[in-house]
Amino acid sequence: MRSIFNEKNLNSKKILLRLDLNVPLKNGVISDTSRIDKVLPTINFLIQQKTKIIILSHVGRPNGKIEKELSLKPISEDLRKKLNSSVRLITEKIFNIKNKDFFEKFDEEILMLENIRFYAEEEKNDYKFAKHIAALGDIYVNDAFSCSHRAHASIHQIPKYLPSFSGLQLDSEVAALNKITSEITKPITCIIGGSKISTKIDIIKNLMNKFDNIIIVGGMANNFIEYFGNNIGKSIKEKNCNQVIKEIITLSKNTKCKIVCPEDVLVSKNLNGLSKNKELNEVLYDDIILDIGPKTVNKITDIIDNSKTILWNGPAGYFENPNFAYGSIKIAEKIIENNKSNKIFSVVGGGDTVSFLNNLKIVKNFNFVSTAGGAFLEYLEGKKLPGITALD
Ligand code: 3PG
Repeated sequence: MRSIFNEKNLNSKKILLRLDLNVPLKNGVISDTSRIDKVLPTINFLIQQKTKIIILSHVGRPNGKIEKELSLKPISEDLRKKLNSSVRLITEKIFNIKNKDFFEKFDEEILMLENIRFYAEEEKNDYKFAKHIAALGDIYVNDAFSCSHRAHASIHQIPKYLPSFSGLQLDSEVAALNKITSEITKPITCIIGGSKISTKIDIIKNLMNKFDNIIIVGGMANNFIEYFGNNIGKSIKEKNCNQVIKEIITLSKNTKCKIVCPEDVLVSKNLNGLSKNKELNEVLYDDIILDIGPKTVNKITDIIDNSKTILWNGPAGYFENPNFAYGSIKIAEKIIENNKSNKIFSVVGGGDTVSFLNNLKIVKNFNFVSTAGGAFLEYLEGKKLPGITALD
């Protein structure tokens, strides 16, 4: 993997820069800009080198369709302010943009293509789509570590057609994760939560050989709660997971890794409601599980007290409603307390978790903060990430 920072003679080169600008957006307002702020050094470096930049990114999961509320417009405006430089969002269809002359049409130093996931070809890793985009630039740079576990066209396919490099953010995430995985101290506890269940549930199986405890919270925990014969009402869950859960439970008996699931929960009838603490056997058919309860929090804080390393990825509840931020706040407080007295080494990852900690202004109290969620877990698993392999 070659870093763009070691490259000379970049003057007037056209750079296709893949970033992860997948920030939390509501009605066009960005509630946490961490992922934008972290890539500014790479963009500034490319500006200093007098390159022409075309940014590629996705936000959300529009599944190959145009969704107005998932436009990159607010993100391009935030970037423009922060860079004090012109950033133009190109809304023209990618297939209508023919070649490198496209850059000559505009005065702006930085162009940004509209949400790359508005095109089904992106997630299909379509080579024609990738080739077409590659033809717009001279060099490709991946500064999106948090997307590098996706074999998508803008991550995995474009580098096949251009000289390709890593950006500063990707370099620093990989260096930090390598250091962590080589210097890790046991007992290790991994807390996995969040609502993006689909990829994480399989990962647990592979992480079990490496960790002493895996604590499952957030949306994924609902699958486990249901598996053990409880009602989860209208809560979110992943379909067809019973087989993998069965394997996880069997594995936990054969390895030393304990799987810890919620023992009580906070529920409501809707996302904006008040919270009610319930035992698992009290959840009704119209309840939505939105957080862990105090009994579960006590169990988790005891485990944190008995651990030397904590890896945390994904909030414990629906923290967007403060009534369900309880579990995540308690976990954060315990980790920070033990971190301050140097009892543990703490690593936190994932867009939602970082945004939650940022809003509470406590993100600096962790030893390492990764903007990556799924990519972070897959890297810990020891998997080769398609985006990194493509750069090699
Ligand atoms: C993330 O938020 O982890 C990355 O942007 C990847 O998003 P995805 O899980 O929708 O692929």
